[in-house]
Amino acid sequence: MRTAVTPEGVAAIVFTADEIAAATTRLAGDIARDYRSEPVLLVGVLKGALFFTADLARALPDTLDVSIDFLAVTSYGNRSASSGEVRLLKDMSESIEGKHVLIIEDIVDNGLTLSYLQDLIGRRRPASLRSCVLLDKPYRRRVDVKIDYLGLTCPDTFIVGYGLDYQEKYRNLPYLARLEPWVFQEPA
Ligand code: IMP
Ligand code: MG
Repeated sequence: MRTAVTPEGVAAIVFTADEIAAATTRLAGDIARDYRSEPVLLVGVLKGALFFTADLARALPDTLDVSIDFLAVTSYGNRSASSGEVRLLKDMSESIEGKHVLIIEDIVDNGLTLSYLQDLIGRRRPASLRSCVLLDKPYRRRVDVKIDYLGLTCPDTFIVGYGLDYQEKYRNLPYLARLEPWVFQEPA
């Protein structure tokens, strides 16, 4: 039998699919406990939180009153370091006024993206607003953001997979991985 090889450019797995699933199950338990008596609107942040939103929603008990919406932002351009600039590319499709909103985000690094979203959604008068984040990189925070539900603390390295990309690649990997340094080098 052939041993498994990782895709070109992938250096090592940081979190396996099982570790991601275990964190998701734990978060779903916490969320289910807190929202058992009120409907919750999950707002997934595209594209990074695509799979996390889908898996988290399915891990919630079927007795919970759950709706799902998405918005899309961009903060990085095509680089692996934050530009510090957040732009809304696609808004939610429904009004959130009076609803219990839970932002579902893939990763918090400098905090600007989540802070921008908390401001944007907060101004639209939701009944409540919390955030659920799969991965935290607390090393380069520029703004202090509140994360109500946190999955995993990430090592201080750029990671891809499970929705996260480098130049739009690697989102489809079922695990989270770090990349070989040569991937980040500009072509000669
Ligand atoms: P922040 O605004 O610096 O907190 O970054 C948040 C956004 O940057 C996330 O939603 C991701 O899209 C992206 N990001 C931050 N760190 C990584 C990483 O290690 N890999 C891929 N995307 C990242
Ligand atoms: Mg994101």
